[in-house]
Amino acid sequence: MKISVIGVGYVGLATAAVLAELGNDVIAADIDKKKIEGLNSGIMPIFEPGLRELVARNIRENRLRFTHDNREVIRHGEIIFICVGTPPKENWETELKYVKNVAMEIAHHMDSYKVIVHKSTVPVETGDNVRKVIRDNIKKSVDFDVVSNPEFLREGSAIKDTLEPDRVVIGSDSQRAIDMMKKLYDPLKAPLIITDIRSAELIKHASNAFLATKISFINSVARICDMSGADVEKIAEGMGHDKRIGKEFLNAGIGYGGSCFPKDSQAFIKIAESYGYDYKLLKATNEINEEQKEYFVKKIKDALNNLNDKRIGVLGLSFKPNTDDMRFAPSIYIINELQKGGAKIKAYDPEAMEKAKQVFNSIEYCRDPYEAAKDADALIILTEWSEFRELDMEKIKKMMNHSLIIDGRNIYNPENMKKLGFHYISIGRKEVV
Ligand code: UGA
Repeated sequence: MKISVIGVGYVGLATAAVLAELGNDVIAADIDKKKIEGLNSGIMPIFEPGLRELVARNIRENRLRFTHDNREVIRHGEIIFICVGTPPKENWETELKYVKNVAMEIAHHMDSYKVIVHKSTVPVETGDNVRKVIRDNIKKSVDFDVVSNPEFLREGSAIKDTLEPDRVVIGSDSQRAIDMMKKLYDPLKAPLIITDIRSAELIKHASNAFLATKISFINSVARICDMSGADVEKIAEGMGHDKRIGKEFLNAGIGYGGSCFPKDSQAFIKIAESYGYDYKLLKATNEINEEQKEYFVKKIKDALNNLNDKRIGVLGLSFKPNTDDMRFAPSIYIINELQKGGAKIKAYDPEAMEKAKQVFNSIEYCRDPYEAAKDADALIILTEWSEFRELDMEKIKKMMNHSLIIDGRNIYNPENMKKLGFHYISIGRKEVV
């Protein structure tokens, strides 16, 4: 099928590459000319495992092209995916001007029947608004349908999640559009949820809100574990075996970050508010998430007595592993607080240091984890990159000024740490001295 994708951020790029891989003829566009030039010469705007190879192969085999010509991209596709950014406004409402601009462009250039799909996370009723913008501005009298097809991919596994989704949600009131979407997604053999546009839009916000709540739930339990001497990992395991609860997303830590959960949960609260509903549960989820970062800083302060002039080695800066994304990373609040207290920060992250340089002032970036640990009064873990699990801890211990590790992601075994002679503090698990 002929497919157009407008906006090549995480969602747009993964969608374009995967749909091309499935054999479709895909053109993807972005207003950022540099990004488009980069993509055409093999430079990826984001770090995402498997993406570069997938894009290169599909360009080579003539199934994927990038352009900044809106007319070209809009005329090309039978199905047009809108994947532009939906950033938060100051008050956390969703900024929809980029979606509206694209709808206007589609209205201007469309010259045959199109299925217009919004894939970015948007407030309920956006589909109706997109339809209205197009209807009010359409230049030629051609038919079109609007579909909500939310994306559930995670950064760091964007390609896998797009190729093997848990489900595909298609929201539309047009059978013609639904049939075309079903045909497009048929090769994925994923469960299909066919519904109306508003329900599809809400499935996305509800899913992210639920996952964020699950994280704040287990982080609250971790606080009780710290006070009672119980072990949050065993509790998560014990809960997770119950199929109704499930094992995923019960890792206690320093709270969620990234471009989705913080933004989407706040936006969902605003959406509820616009209908007159006070979404207390989600407000608490966000508050607990903020508190969790403060709680971690307090653990560090308590362990070091005084932060002034203390050297703190930091392992991990990105909001989670396998991405260089620093947006709403818990590391931002935590490092800023430590610096406010007078601590000197030496940090290492396998992928995010370039992006981190735009975020932090005066931190020393290290070549590897050992350099971050050298002469440190404490080593703190902020992102659970797998390479941190494989470190030579005896070497680390010898290099540090004090053998103190404060682990915000629970990546080490407390008993092993004790045997190695570390003072090891983690989240919701007994401290071993
Ligand atoms: C999230 C959702 O998982 C995707 O389904 C969704 O499509 C995406 O948002 C989006 O709306 O676009 P993502 O933000 O890439 O994906 O990251 P997640 O893997 O969900 O992690 C989010 C945050 O939760 C991270 O900071 C992570 O460290 C934290 N987390 C996750 C925990 O603290 N504990 C857990 O058990 C799991």
